[in-house]
Amino acid sequence: MFFRNKNISIENDKILKEIDMNKIPKHIAMIMDGNGRWAKKRNLPRSFGHKAGVETIREIVKTCSKLGVKYLTLYAFSTENWKRPADEVSTLMNLLVEYLKGELEELNKNNVIINYIGDISALPDICQKELLNSHSKTKYNTGLTLNLALNYGGRDEIIRAVKQICTDISKNNMDIEKIDEKLISNYLYTSNMPDPDLLIRTSGELRISNFLLYQIAYTELWFTDVYWPDFKPYHLYKAIIDYQKRDRRFGTVK
Ligand code: IPE
Ligand code: IPE
Ligand code: MG
Repeated sequence: MFFRNKNISIENDKILKEIDMNKIPKHIAMIMDGNGRWAKKRNLPRSFGHKAGVETIREIVKTCSKLGVKYLTLYAFSTENWKRPADEVSTLMNLLVEYLKGELEELNKNNVIINYIGDISALPDICQKELLNSHSKTKYNTGLTLNLALNYGGRDEIIRAVKQICTDISKNNMDIEKIDEKLISNYLYTSNMPDPDLLIRTSGELRISNFLLYQIAYTELWFTDVYWPDFKPYHLYKAIIDYQKRDRRFGTVK
């Protein structure tokens, strides 16, 4: 296997040279999928896949930060993931706390801002506490913004935005005519952030699974069969190189 080979760093160096550092996507979104199947393939419990997946997160966050990506949005727990067995949900929540506690210092050193999107009020108190703590300790950093999507659903986000807009119209007499694409963006969890340039999904599934529905209107999509725990900086470099070759027309002619 390529990655067990000692030539990894040479191969990485080679592929890195193909990246145009002036055209790094500003915002990358990732659907980190395949932890369960990664574990199953090894006859291990699903929790082992999630643990291995955290290692990938550590590495990918650092890589994005080094590349100068400004926003990285990771789909960590969807509004639908509550339907999983309770012990799996609690493993995921515990891993979140462990990750935040264990990585805070390193992320701070790397100038990363820890942020979250989604309704975190439904998460266990300890998760909320760690998220708020990590955010407040990193919010003045100026490097990569790491958005952890937690109890996040694209439809839920739109419903919330619609409700808030209706409330503002009824309370403040906000003019209905003011509703446009920008205003709706401003009511989403990602307000003040650019839409993703590139969306990566691992594990071979070719679907969006309720992620960033409004924001990905013109995002470039990149899929790989690789399971999330096997996803390495090398794959990210490949995705970026492919992205850089694409012609983003946004509906116009060039
Ligand atoms: C992604 O891996 C992690 C989360 C959804 C939290 P999965 O747990 O979905 O792994 P598969 O898709 O079952 O292999
Ligand atoms: C999407 O993966 C959600 C996350 C990665 C957090 P799922 O594994 O939940 O998606 P489906 O069920 O295959 O669509
Ligand atoms: Mg999955």
